[in-house]
Amino acid sequence: MAKSAEEEHPVKAFGWAAKDTSGTLSPFNFSRRENGDDDVTIKILYCGVCHSDLHAIKNEWGFSYYPVLPGHEIVGVVTKAGSNVEKFKVGDRVGVGVIVNSCKSCENCKQDLENYCPKMVFTYNSMNYDGTKTYGGYSDLVVVDYRYVLPPLLCAGITVYSPMKYYGMTEPGKHLGVAGLGGLGHVAVKLGKAFGLKVTVISSSPKKESEAISKLGADAFLVSSDPEKVKAAVGTMDFIIDTIAAVHPLAPLLGLLKMNGKLITVGLPDKPLELPIFPLVLGRKLVGGSDIGGIKETQEMLDFCAKHNITSEIELIRMDYINTAMDRLAKSDVRYRFVIDVSNSLTK
Ligand SMILES: NC(=O)c1ccc[n+]([C@@H]2O[C@H](COP(=O)([O-])OP(=O)(O)OC[C@H]3O[C@@H](n4cnc5c(N)ncnc54)[C@H](OP(=O)(O)O)[C@@H]3O)[C@@H](O)[C@H]2O)c1
Ligand SMILES: [Zn+2]
Ligand SMILES: [Zn+2]
Repeated sequence: MAKSAEEEHPVKAFGWAAKDTSGTLSPFNFSRRENGDDDVTIKILYCGVCHSDLHAIKNEWGFSYYPVLPGHEIVGVVTKAGSNVEKFKVGDRVGVGVIVNSCKSCENCKQDLENYCPKMVFTYNSMNYDGTKTYGGYSDLVVVDYRYVLPPLLCAGITVYSPMKYYGMTEPGKHLGVAGLGGLGHVAVKLGKAFGLKVTVISSSPKKESEAISKLGADAFLVSSDPEKVKAAVGTMDFIIDTIAAVHPLAPLLGLLKMNGKLITVGLPDKPLELPIFPLVLGRKLVGGSDIGGIKETQEMLDFCAKHNITSEIELIRMDYINTAMDRLAKSDVRYRFVIDVSNSLTK
């Protein structure tokens, strides 16, 4: 018979997991592998709550297998380091993002694009190479190959930084639209300003306007349901980064782009979006996508953020608030990232 999650490995661990598609999170005992030569063991202090966690606990993408213990914005402190680990030592503050392993030998891995490795292992809801499941950061500790460990980070940062670089959204003076002002969107606004762009937020929440401008530094704010304002902005943007977590029409966004404009989507709605062809063809526009970023580029992003003093705006929550936080996240009611105070609030 297969071993239970609690018995698979020698290191006892504890966290909160969803047991079924209701997505309700509750206490869960499981285990982590023994720290190997290439591994570090991390005592988890904090974990960010990404909208991907919400998609996953409710099986909105159709590939969740339960129990799902989410969390891929992990911040903690190293408590053990294997004999091959020179980069980190016990006591270091570190972060773990979306990826905990990859094959290290394919074309993508060789180009520091582990995020596109066909054998990439996700931090949770995925399978280790030994056939056991991965569990994320809504828990007390994690054991990770040091090559996937970084200074503290949030997945939100690299997910918008990587496409901005790749698709050339960094030329000062150009006009960037940021669709959806949540965890990813608010970092995109800050990065856009640091690159010297004009930044307009495109949002379904009029109440986020004053903060978007005064606190995050956006130049303008467009409420997507206001037809007059949207009409006035048609044809003014060079590129849009679309972080919207739900199904939405693309036609209004394509309309906001200038000729040759680019609409790059990183949001992952659970159903396909309809792609209007006429505005694409007639304006020689481009629609693209992007998935997180490689470890090397993530380090570059962290250095860029440190240089430009870019941090994420957070609401610190207790572990037992997580189900309420998920309900609020589903309603776009977060300023702008929930972060779980794991070490101070996770109790058995
Ligand atoms: N490609 C990748 O590598 C990658 C990485 C991380 C996350 N993601 C995906 O990116 C998306 C955004 O993640 P996030 O953590 O930034 O989410 P989030 O904090 O919930 O932000 C998403 C924003 O989308 C807008 N939105 C409009 N209608 C919505 C609706 N019906 N439901 C939810 N949001 C709606 C809201 O902004 P307004 O209030 O301004 O309208 C909301 O704040 C998710 O789909 C997530 O899975 C992708
Ligand atoms: Zn994420
Ligand atoms: Zn690979």
